[in-house]
Amino acid sequence: MRVGVLTGGGDCPGLNAAIRAVVRKCQVGYNDEVIGFLDGWRGVVEDRTVPLDVERCRGILPRGGTILGTSRTNPYTIDDGEARVVATIERLGIDALVAIGGEDTLGVANRLGDKGVPVVGIPKTIDNDLSATDATIGFDTAVQIAAEAIDRLHTTAESHDRVIVCEVMGRHVGWIATYAGIAGGATVILVPEEPFSIDRVCEYLRHRHSSGRFASIVVAAEGAKPLEGTLSVTSGEIDQFGHERLGGIGQTIADEVESRTGYESRVTILGHIQRGGTPSAFDRVLATRFGTAAVDAVHEGAWRQMVALHGTRIERVPIADAVSSLKTLDPELFRSVAEVFFG
Ligand code: F6P
Repeated sequence: MRVGVLTGGGDCPGLNAAIRAVVRKCQVGYNDEVIGFLDGWRGVVEDRTVPLDVERCRGILPRGGTILGTSRTNPYTIDDGEARVVATIERLGIDALVAIGGEDTLGVANRLGDKGVPVVGIPKTIDNDLSATDATIGFDTAVQIAAEAIDRLHTTAESHDRVIVCEVMGRHVGWIATYAGIAGGATVILVPEEPFSIDRVCEYLRHRHSSGRFASIVVAAEGAKPLEGTLSVTSGEIDQFGHERLGGIGQTIADEVESRTGYESRVTILGHIQRGGTPSAFDRVLATRFGTAAVDAVHEGAWRQMVALHGTRIERVPIADAVSSLKTLDPELFRSVAEVFFG
């Protein structure tokens, strides 16, 4: 078979491990030829490719980013985008396309699948917001990076007797914030799923300070929302998939905390540090399992299916199930575990 592979959306640690696994399984397991599309869906629209083989993939397992490049290009917002994708696939004689991406990239894969393009999906995103899978490639690494950053912020917060607000990514869900906040011993965690009261945040901080301890860390997801009308926040630019560019809520929170409590406050925005660098061992293994399983799915003609982690098993789910709605934070985890440690 001639198998195409692409990485789309934001980069994350573990993409190269997944590419390597697809290539290895194709070449050694099935004697397939593999073609990499450059820069996500843009490379398919523009017919830009590179040949991939085991030799080309040597040494990429621990490397962050993606050797194929990535983009947030949406063929459905480009003139004749879908027709150009189909034409490229036909011209190159691609028998199967493995799309490694999040809700946007896989949403496109699903629409193309409806038109008869033979697609299989692999879930990746540091946000962990894809439904129908327990985990996505990149999430574990992002949590580790954020938790380590929080550990470091603790010592500065203690030395200066400050509140430090640590803003983490996650778009409209609070998975990274909650996991990193629990792991890092945050005084309070703010997530989009549970709109926060700034008064309540200040109460938690005062409570912690009144017991003689200081050095509070507030972990705020970039998409954290104040309760209606309690704080004004600005909105950002919109990308090709209609997503608002988030960021900046941490500064607003730090300013409010300082003015309401008098505690000196600072903000650290972790930003793209969470998406860079070497993947954790967990993400390397997950990506390797997903990549090899996706190639088996290709050879069984399991089109429009995505490989998914359920417990400890890799299974297949319709891509449509993964992209139909966001996988928001488990409320039980937030209320029964994270919140117990607030204040
Ligand atoms: O989806 C991954 C993610 O890192 C989000 O957490 C974040 O909101 C967004 O991508 C940032 O995207 P960009 O790198 O395009 O600014």
